[in-house]
Amino acid sequence: MKVLFAASEIHPLIKTGGLADVAGALPIALRKKDIDVKLIMPAYRGILEKMAPVKSSINLGNPFGTGDLILLETHLPESHTPIYLVQCQSLFEREAGPYLDQYSHDFGDNDVRFAAFSWVCAMITQHGRLIGWQPDILHLNDWQTGFAAAYLAAWRLDHPPIVTTVHNLRYNGSFPVEQFDAVRLPHDLLSIHGMEFYGRYSSLKAGLVYANAITTVSPTYAKEILTPEYGDGLDGTLRAASYKLSGILNGVDYNEWSPSIDPFIHTHYDLHSLDLKLQNKLALQRENNLPENAQAPVFGVVSRLTEQKGLDLIPAAIEPALKRGAMLILLGSGDKSLEQQYLALQERYPDQVAIRIGYDEAYSHRLQAGVDTLLIPSRFEPCGLTQLYALKYGTLPIVRHTGGLADTVFEGGENANGFVFQHASVEDLQGAIERSLEAFSNATTWRTLQIQAMSQDHSWERVTEQWIQLYQSLLA
Ligand code: ADP
Ligand code: GLC
Repeated sequence: MKVLFAASEIHPLIKTGGLADVAGALPIALRKKDIDVKLIMPAYRGILEKMAPVKSSINLGNPFGTGDLILLETHLPESHTPIYLVQCQSLFEREAGPYLDQYSHDFGDNDVRFAAFSWVCAMITQHGRLIGWQPDILHLNDWQTGFAAAYLAAWRLDHPPIVTTVHNLRYNGSFPVEQFDAVRLPHDLLSIHGMEFYGRYSSLKAGLVYANAITTVSPTYAKEILTPEYGDGLDGTLRAASYKLSGILNGVDYNEWSPSIDPFIHTHYDLHSLDLKLQNKLALQRENNLPENAQAPVFGVVSRLTEQKGLDLIPAAIEPALKRGAMLILLGSGDKSLEQQYLALQERYPDQVAIRIGYDEAYSHRLQAGVDTLLIPSRFEPCGLTQLYALKYGTLPIVRHTGGLADTVFEGGENANGFVFQHASVEDLQGAIERSLEAFSNATTWRTLQIQAMSQDHSWERVTEQWIQLYQSLLA
């Protein structure tokens, strides 16, 4: 079975969040099960230098008037996973991130950029002979690839089935209808049953409407997004499409995220040498110029700083714990006012709070290994990967009961592995923090929870079978 897996970010090439982790791991896990998956991503600036030499190059012309679109075939350096890169200097070879400029504003032409990328995905899905490899399935991820479903619908030819995976409904790829002509799609797709979205148009909606199957990244989020509260304006579309919607939980790449082999952390440890985790805590405190203190409970955060993540609740909720000597270590970037709030907290508790604004892959590993507890008070969370990493590191997550967090973190019961609260309020979060402190004060209780957390298996191998079954059902 041949699957073309399209994503706008793939770890370790480029990453802004969990989508990259998934796109960098699920295809590799599927290839181990003999599914012939090939990746496709835009050739952002600097990407080619990270790749094996280019094997072939095809010029697909200039359909958007932005310069020629060139399809390059190569493979990922370590795993040798085959990957196509879509090259177009004017669209993709820019400073800053894949979506935002250096002032953190969306690039003004993100519609055309990702329409062009998606157009190439659609072209090679429809005309596999172009590249000598005919996909049986096109697997799209999020709004950046949703245009591909629109092109295939517009061309009105038989085409391989499309799977659209929703990693985050909040980012819906919506643009003013006045700009619609720029993406070279026929206007009949602009109906309410097509891409129309409250007076705008949405590429994600195309990915939903024109897909043969929709998945999202946890069973709970798959149910939540059918409601107005979590549906972000697409719940009606999703209810109408619910016959083809399912939730498949994300996995973890334990080659990257295991404290027994993690090259970034101070001291390796595992389930049987959990005492050594303390060395990572002391090292993290030293690294942050905090007093070395084994007894102090240390809370951590690794996150994009956005409304989604509920991080505005933490400063007030954690203050009582700080007053009693707890520590908080945060790594994140995004919303400027949140950054300021956390920096202000650090100023008030310089010996207990360490805030690092920025993106730092290696430090995110040291933080996971070094803290006792990871805070994830998300307002919504399609899956969430940081809680899964935390579990493996014997770092107990405190999460809000939503999406993938609700599917993976449990307070009480035989699977107890963390702390869970219901409402996105300071009081509820504070309550969970207090319960975690009580558990932390009893070494045996804490150790039991840690062992439970570390024993849980969230490897990709556990979920590949669900993916294969889904693909097969579409080909039957
Ligand atoms: P989301 O995709 O919504 O951001 P996830 O929990 O699925 O949330 O994935 C986030 C990924 O990004 C994780 O791999 C996490 O470690 C990483 N991450 C988030 N913020 C940072 C940061 N500031 N520095 C390094 N890694 C980060
Ligand atoms: C999104 C979601 C996150 C999920 C990730 C990978 O960024 O916000 O919850 O884990 O995608 O699927």
